[in-house]
Amino acid sequence: MGSSIDIRLETLTGPRAGGAGLPSNGKAFFIETFGCQMNVHDSEKVAGVLLGRGYQQVHQPDDADVVFFNTCSIREKAAQKVFSRLGLLRPGQAPTKIIGVLGCVAQQEGEEIFERAPWVSLVCGSASYRKLPDLLAQIESGNRRVMGLDLDVDETFETELTRRDNPFRAYLTIIEGCDKACTYCVVPLTRGPERSRASAVILEEVRHLVDFGYSEIQLLGQTVNSYRDPSPRGMNFAELLVAVAQVAGIRRVRFTTSHPRDFHPEIVQAIEAVPAVCNHVHLPVQSGSTRVLAAMQRTYTREEYLDIIAMIRASKRPISITSDIIVGFPGETEADFEETLSLLDLVQYDGGFSFKFSPRPNTPAQHMEDSVPEEEKGRRLAVLQEKQRGIQLARNEALIGQTFEVLVDGCSSRVEQWAGRTSCHRVLNFTSPCAGSASAGASLLGQYVQVKVKRAGPNSLVGERIT
Ligand code: SAH
Ligand code: SF4
Ligand code: F3S
Repeated sequence: MGSSIDIRLETLTGPRAGGAGLPSNGKAFFIETFGCQMNVHDSEKVAGVLLGRGYQQVHQPDDADVVFFNTCSIREKAAQKVFSRLGLLRPGQAPTKIIGVLGCVAQQEGEEIFERAPWVSLVCGSASYRKLPDLLAQIESGNRRVMGLDLDVDETFETELTRRDNPFRAYLTIIEGCDKACTYCVVPLTRGPERSRASAVILEEVRHLVDFGYSEIQLLGQTVNSYRDPSPRGMNFAELLVAVAQVAGIRRVRFTTSHPRDFHPEIVQAIEAVPAVCNHVHLPVQSGSTRVLAAMQRTYTREEYLDIIAMIRASKRPISITSDIIVGFPGETEADFEETLSLLDLVQYDGGFSFKFSPRPNTPAQHMEDSVPEEEKGRRLAVLQEKQRGIQLARNEALIGQTFEVLVDGCSSRVEQWAGRTSCHRVLNFTSPCAGSASAGASLLGQYVQVKVKRAGPNSLVGERIT
């Protein structure tokens, strides 16, 4: 058996370093994750569930008795990845491993996965991860195929243990599922309806994360700002943000993804008033054309979106704004695309992601006439990305000479090279003449330091630490 991964387990009642006292069942699991941060965090919970049952986590599928792929179905390419991974694990004669497909492809394809890859024996969606040990036990007692695909609205998603991968930033899901109905999107199908967690449970978890050494928390949800506390306390999203930021020991709170429909002025006020709330908003627009937005069922117009941007830009604290954009949605004309380009000029995004429309099973847009040829989608994507690159470069260059606090989360083997993130979510690479070299062991990792920006590229800044 290969080397095991370090265990950093957090229990519901606080940290449990080194997995001390956990029973071992002599078996090992491997998990590979595709998709969004919510999936990454789900894998952290899956790892916690399995470690709690005595499994050991390993880096290579070859070393594992149980191999899991936590999958993403957002675009065709993402969904295909799992089938190419499964192809590599096709057994010769007698299968020696349990192979399981988790996540959004599992939820969407269900039993079909067994048809396409008969060597898979477990298919389980995100609302059923607490059942994984039972499902594994069923396989061990002779069941060849087991499934956990309930999208139970009463599921609490609370796992007893979580094994977070990132030692500096803790992901924390506050709202599961999605109640919007964007016509291109599989998420409401793969993750079910919106379910917010009680504020007291969230705040308790934040306190435990501080005990475990985290000072930066990233609140997660597909529509994170649609959060509505189900408990009598009835907090809204902005109130929760402030409450999390006020937990002793918390230095930074981030949140993603915000939906424009539920983006209220209180969120901007929270960012303005509370320095620990990071000054970055990921607010996907998807298209700059009101006509296309209506076909996407995004529930806002170009003008309404721009009003929200104006409200954010009016903040006394500078707030960076990033976005997601889809090009080549069915029926998108050249004029619609031009409107997206002109929206980029108006908003001046600090970053973002852009994609070619990909028709997805069981979504309304799948059956809309996909009128934009693949080649034209590619052209529009390249034009858009080139334009956004220029905007980002200019916005980053405007920061030269300013000083930012960064949380250091990386170092290179080259002497005195470090990397961190600003509150506004920029990558800032820097030298630190005062800290000794990374290799010399004078580690800045996990520390907050002041860095002055000297140079800028489209995707990152370069600077020097100041004391
Ligand atoms: N909940 C978030 C985003 C979820 S998915 C939101 O509402 O903004 C992340 C991004 O993938 C989306 O913002 C969208 O830009 C992109 N996306 C989703 N479905 C897609 C599809 N069928 N084809 C291409 N891109 C898609
Ligand atoms: Fe998908 Fe729209 Fe929900 Fe985002 S808001 S997850 S794009 S349906
Ligand atoms: Fe992908 Fe599912 Fe996230 S489809 S983007 S992993 S919610």
